[in-house]
Amino acid sequence: MKPAVVVFDLFGTLLNIASLRDAAAPLVSEPDAFVATWREKQIGYAFASAIMSVHEDFDAMTDYGLRYAAEKHGVALDEQKRKWLVAAWENVRAYDDVVSTLRDLRERGVRCAVLTNGTPSTAKAAIAHAGIADLLDATLSVESAGVFKPDRRVYELVTAHYHMPAEHVVFVSSNGWDATGAALFGMRVAWCNRGGVPAETFGPTPEWVLRDLRGLPAIVDALSFSSA
Ligand code: LAC
Repeated sequence: MKPAVVVFDLFGTLLNIASLRDAAAPLVSEPDAFVATWREKQIGYAFASAIMSVHEDFDAMTDYGLRYAAEKHGVALDEQKRKWLVAAWENVRAYDDVVSTLRDLRERGVRCAVLTNGTPSTAKAAIAHAGIADLLDATLSVESAGVFKPDRRVYELVTAHYHMPAEHVVFVSSNGWDATGAALFGMRVAWCNRGGVPAETFGPTPEWVLRDLRGLPAIVDALSFSSA
């Protein structure tokens, strides 16, 4: 049988975080570097939250990361500007290959879903803004698990939702650590190396490495599982 479901990470995989530079540009002198620091700290704080078992949602991690980035880049951001920048995560753009790939997969009878660290409301708004809501079967947020990826309880949300074993799920992420987490959980993993960065050296290696999503339909076509 063919894979029934392909599950995507959201921010960085379907949606281009770099597009946040447009929101940051009127406020900071180096918007690309600022957004890179912001993202790095957002993810770092999410890891720390999971390890320390102190959970606040991803919007909070986004705000903590923003405050750090503002300090590092010497930008004064009042609460109103911070709220506005955190809300800008609802307006990030989809990568060019997203709509066509989701359509191709759906034409093959494959359900496409999202598994994100994002809150349900931010993820829903961002997906609607990107115009891909109709192409997705489900949006699963870590908030149902109360912990961030790559904790295995998050990947369990997928197997519980679809009532299928991990090895019947194809998981796609551009975040190397997320690809590692899903592979460790037992999913079949495609790492979408959009940034052309070195492969992770720690943890299981992803089964496929893509430069963008356009190679996915061929992977799905070539796949077959031994049991239903
Ligand atoms: C997500 C994070 C990794 O969408 O950005 O899950």
